[in-house]
Amino acid sequence: MKYIRNLFLLAVAVVAVSCTTGQTTTTVGTSTEVEKKVEQLLGKMTLAEKIGQMNQVSAGGDVSNYAESLRKGQIGSILNEVDPEKINAYQHIAVEESRLGIPLLVGRDVIHGYHTIFPIPLGLAATFDPELVEKGARIAAVEATAQGTRWTFSPMLDIARDPRWGRIAEGSGEDTYLDSRMAVAMVRGYQGSSLDETSMAACVKHFVGYGAAEGGRDYNSTYLSERQLRNIYLPPFEAAIQAGAMTLMTSFNDNDGVPSTANAFILKDILRNEWGFDGLVVTDWDSMGEMIDHGYGLDRKDVAMKAANAGVDMDMMTFGFLSHLEELVRSGEVKESTIDEAVRHILRVKFMLGLFENPYVDVEASQAVQYAPAHLEAACKTVEESVILLQNDGTLPLQADRIRTILVTGPMADAPHDQLGTWAFDGQKSHTVTPLKALQERFPGKVVYVPGLQYSRQERNRFDDVVAAARRADVVLAFLGEEAILSGEAHSLADLNLIGSQSALLAALKATGKPVVATVMAGRPLTIERDLPNCNALLYAFHPGTMGGPALANLLFGDANPSGKTPVTFLRTVGQVPMYYSHNMTGRPYRGEKMLVDIDQEAGQTSLGNTSYYLDYGAYPLFPFGYGLSYTTFAYSDLTMDKDVYPVDGTISVSFMLTNTGAYDGTEVVQLYVRDLVGSLTRPVRELKQFQRISLKAGESRQIRMELPVADLAFFGLDGTKKVEPGEFHLWVAGDSVSGEPISFQVR
Ligand code: NOJ
Repeated sequence: MKYIRNLFLLAVAVVAVSCTTGQTTTTVGTSTEVEKKVEQLLGKMTLAEKIGQMNQVSAGGDVSNYAESLRKGQIGSILNEVDPEKINAYQHIAVEESRLGIPLLVGRDVIHGYHTIFPIPLGLAATFDPELVEKGARIAAVEATAQGTRWTFSPMLDIARDPRWGRIAEGSGEDTYLDSRMAVAMVRGYQGSSLDETSMAACVKHFVGYGAAEGGRDYNSTYLSERQLRNIYLPPFEAAIQAGAMTLMTSFNDNDGVPSTANAFILKDILRNEWGFDGLVVTDWDSMGEMIDHGYGLDRKDVAMKAANAGVDMDMMTFGFLSHLEELVRSGEVKESTIDEAVRHILRVKFMLGLFENPYVDVEASQAVQYAPAHLEAACKTVEESVILLQNDGTLPLQADRIRTILVTGPMADAPHDQLGTWAFDGQKSHTVTPLKALQERFPGKVVYVPGLQYSRQERNRFDDVVAAARRADVVLAFLGEEAILSGEAHSLADLNLIGSQSALLAALKATGKPVVATVMAGRPLTIERDLPNCNALLYAFHPGTMGGPALANLLFGDANPSGKTPVTFLRTVGQVPMYYSHNMTGRPYRGEKMLVDIDQEAGQTSLGNTSYYLDYGAYPLFPFGYGLSYTTFAYSDLTMDKDVYPVDGTISVSFMLTNTGAYDGTEVVQLYVRDLVGSLTRPVRELKQFQRISLKAGESRQIRMELPVADLAFFGLDGTKKVEPGEFHLWVAGDSVSGEPISFQVR
């Protein structure tokens, strides 16, 4: 099946006015028309012009630097230019002054918003709200395309089970199903339901396995079996491609010795032949050149040959294609048909985006949509849904009328750049609303600000100034965490405790006896176990973006009720890595044995139980996947299934009662998990198969029904094929990945 072409059938030729932007949509034609145009253009191109299309360069300088190359048709795409006037100038040379007038595809890392910055992707995943995430991606596309970016290098679909890896911030966390749902939402949002001038081609990355870097050190090797790839790492990519993702990026890592940029098994056999992808494959930044450092190629000519033959269409910043493909075709080491196929992939995307019809940006109009009030409002709502309440002794929500003085403290209380998180190139800190600013606006005259620590890594022994201010306050709001620079690409950490003297600051505040509410802003799940006793309540905000301040103020004071859930397991200590909820069943599962501190000195080794756990840290994380509290409480009851036995092509219908048993209206993320009891392979203890956000008034009960196709239980088993293996299963419906009582069913 040809997914992109299918998507394109939806984008039939219409000229309409977009409701969000007022921009006019472009007439782009049907799929067959595009294919015709691609072939016609390809037929006119010289080999050099074809190879030129396969070359992507980074701009960010004087337009004249690339003028000559553009005239010669040696550049197919630029990245990192966001000035609409410069983009027009580049396009002008490409379109008006090159022989064939092929427009450029302009790319940018628009990862969690363009100007209006949303929470980092890990925070987006914590919402468990694909519709809202789609809306955010649409907003990012509207803002970015208005300024000339028609291609984003997002979504990042790398499953990450190691919080040391800095890029865990950029993905949806540890779970294949949640990641797949977010992938589809983002692709739809970026590209739009039909293609028009606000469509920004999505680029799913990094293909594949990059998040499994050994030791959590970025760029490191991975060792994923084909089974792990197929069952865990590949499904989000397949889902995104089925949803119409137009482009894909290869990853930096080598998997089991083969760098992704030259891995024909994943780029051809799986991506093209099994999945029918006919979009554009781009390398990561110089990942072709880096194959020389990997020891996988002699020189740039050698790696260009390997990448082209493995199925790469476009070279980001190695210049290996531009410099060597012509001679490689002449020598027969790369076939011209390979080049033709690559150029088809590139031209198809350009035609589909309507670039030939309208390559230019309306400079006058490009500012109007940036930071639009509706965009800021959506960003604020997204933060409210993304923040996770991890601890609360009843201190939250705060009652504003009972508070005269609020102490705001901590290095993240007023960090307008850092709360934007990693990869927020275009978000301007002047537009960020920090918690301090939001609280000062909301409670004029009530807020006292003593930062305590200027930045997270600062070391201090005494906190006399903060402690004195805390003694005079009714409540202490401590904003802790890590700055944007401590996560993201190439920013891995080996120690995941709160950095610097932040834990000491929190302990000093708690010692005053005043109520202390901690809010942690970070790019990853930090190991915060030692900090929990030092606060009455703790909110966890993966870097929340432009509107972090107002959203947090709403949550702290009860105008919004937390509903975020952990998209990744929170560890007690970094030594537990990797620990994730959907691990396979072991032969000796932990059965509650004692830990080192409890062991009787006299006890012999056999009394330790001989099961799978750490003597010092046990078997459990600090907070499991899917976990998050609310100001209210929810009870699940009457879980039933419509049958005991299902055929492989059947649908399971589950129903249960959900009751809001607390005093506040709230939203619960209901999660459906399954265990396949016996398989041709050992199977995960639980796998998330569905979720739904359900809002209930205080005291309200509702009967909820969830339908699960039995086909969703399929996996790649011992024989390498994907199918449902008949047998017995357990099913849970619960508010996290460890709660609830299972019910059994069979598939026959
Ligand atoms: C390198 C990163 O790995 C990738 O995610 C990004 O899209 C490119 N650089 C372009 O900036």
